[in-house]
Amino acid sequence: MTQVTRNWTPAHGEPYRPVPYRPARMPSAESLARAAALRERMGRRRTVRQFAADPVPEQVVKDAIACAATAPSGAHQQPWTFVLVKDPGVRRRIRAAAEAEERRSYQGRLGEEWLAALRPLGTDEVKPHLTDAPHLIVVFRQRHWLGADGSRRKHYYVDESVGIAVGMLLSALHLSGLAALVHTPSPMGFLQEVLKRPANEKAFAVIPVGYPAPECEVPDLVRKSLDQVLVER
Ligand SMILES: Cc1cc2nc3c(=O)[nH]c(=O)nc-3n(C[C@H](O)[C@H](O)[C@H](O)COP(=O)(O)O)c2cc1C
Repeated sequence: MTQVTRNWTPAHGEPYRPVPYRPARMPSAESLARAAALRERMGRRRTVRQFAADPVPEQVVKDAIACAATAPSGAHQQPWTFVLVKDPGVRRRIRAAAEAEERRSYQGRLGEEWLAALRPLGTDEVKPHLTDAPHLIVVFRQRHWLGADGSRRKHYYVDESVGIAVGMLLSALHLSGLAALVHTPSPMGFLQEVLKRPANEKAFAVIPVGYPAPECEVPDLVRKSLDQVLVER
């Protein structure tokens, strides 16, 4: 049978074209075992802010990005771009600009309530991971589709879609043995310029990736229990 590979195009206005979907069903016993093991493993994910200098195979990060790009999205518009920032000079520029914004934020722009919410996390305006983590991914959200001729089409549920993709990225990285941080220097407008992204893209999150440093510490946080987040009616 010949395999036809189709390139992605925005399928705006195309007719419904169903194909069969018949994945093999997993026996319940295996589902239960996998779910319990996954719950335990996901429970061990922590946001890391101190990274080891040890190199991480780039393919692991690319595979995690490919996993993220399988995320569901509003009207299948896939409104995301993942920039893997490799140029050390660009990473230095990102760190300088982010730290300048963060300085203004921590010195008062955030307001007392926000600063109080951050205090238990021990964060401040110094962001060494932006230059020092082995990999740096910047995720962009595409506010609308932009054709080569400048034409636009509206995107639906952009934040929800990109948020789900980032969740899948974090899960893929964690399950591949890596640690990450979701960093949202605010405002993030400088990233579009530094990374030369088109006008329809806005930065969503900056994600340093690597192994935790030997001296890594994390805040002693308690997660809500299942009882506290699950409502059964
Ligand atoms: C949308 C979002 C934005 C975040 N922004 C930052 C940030 O700018 N800087 C930071 O150090 N951590 C940031 N975090 C990480 C959170 O502080 C962290 O996920 C939370 O404290 C729970 O810790 P855990 O991930 O180890 O469970 C962010 C997380 C999310 C989901």
